[in-house]
Amino acid sequence: MLAPHGILRFNHDPVGTRDEMTTLAILTAAGSGSRLGRDLPKALVELDGFPLVLHAARRLAASGVVDSLVVTAPDGLVGVMIDLLADDPYVQIPVQVTDGGPTRQASVAAGLALARQGDDVVLVHDAARPLVPSDLVRRVVGAVRSGHAAVVPGLPVTDTVKQVRPDGDTELVTGTPDRSMLRAVQTPQGFARDLLVRAHRTGAGRAGAEYLAATDDAGLVEALGEPVHMVAGDAAAFKITTERDLWLASLVLQETNA
Ligand code: CTP
Ligand code: MG
Repeated sequence: MLAPHGILRFNHDPVGTRDEMTTLAILTAAGSGSRLGRDLPKALVELDGFPLVLHAARRLAASGVVDSLVVTAPDGLVGVMIDLLADDPYVQIPVQVTDGGPTRQASVAAGLALARQGDDVVLVHDAARPLVPSDLVRRVVGAVRSGHAAVVPGLPVTDTVKQVRPDGDTELVTGTPDRSMLRAVQTPQGFARDLLVRAHRTGAGRAGAEYLAATDDAGLVEALGEPVHMVAGDAAAFKITTERDLWLASLVLQETNA
C-alpha cells in the first residue's frame, strides 16, 4: 500500500481517545476521469466555479453527522487537494488527504487505513457525486447507527434491464430480470468500521473474480455473506461520468440557486 502523505487539519483528538463514537467519511477522488476526457482528474473539474471534490466535501460536512474526512488524491496531487480543502470555510471538520490506489477499491483501502480508533462508522462517498443531499447522508448514517452494519442507498430502476451474452456481431438476450426487484445503487455507503475493514482485507486477499467484480464496497461485504441493507437513494446524488452529466449538474445547481 502507498504511504499516506496526509495532514491532520486540526488537533482534533488525533489518537481517538474520546469516549464518543465518531463517523469518518472516505471521499474517493483519486480517479482519472477517463470517460469525462478532460486533461485533469474528474474530482478537480469545476462545477459552478468549484471542483467536484469540494462540492462533495461541503455536503458531507453540512450533514452534521460526519466528524472527519479522508480524501484520496490522484497521483502527485495530495498537495493540491490539501490546498483546496484545508481552509475551506464550509468544510469545518478535520480533513486528511492520502494517495489513492490504482483502483477505486485500493483507494478506499488506503483511506480506511487512516481511520482512528473512535471511528466506529465509516462512510464511503464518491467525489463523482458532488450534489449528494445532506439528507441522504443522514439517512445512511442513521441506518448504520440504528444497527445495520452495511447500508447502501438505492433507487428503483426505470429502464427494463436485459441480461446478455456475446453472440457474433450482436449480443444475445438471455433474460429479463424482474425490474421491480432491481435498484440502482449510489453513494454514500455506510458501514460499521470493523465490517468494512474485514471486507476489504478479505477482498484484497482474494485474487479471484468476486473481488474484481465488486464495483462497490457493499459488494465486498456481500462476498463475506454478511447482510447489506438498503435505504431510499436520491436522484440528486447522481454520478458525473460524462460531459452530459456535468451539464445536467450545472442545470440542477442553477435551478436550486434560483
Ligand atoms: N476513484 C478513486 N481511485 C481510483 C479510481 C476511482 O478514488 N483509482 C474514485 C473516483 O475519483 C470517483 C469514484 O472513485 O470519485 C468513482 O469512480 P469513477 O466514477 O469511475 O471515476 P473515475 O475512475 O475517475 O472515472 P473513469 O472511470 O471515467 O476514468
Ligand atoms: Mg472509474
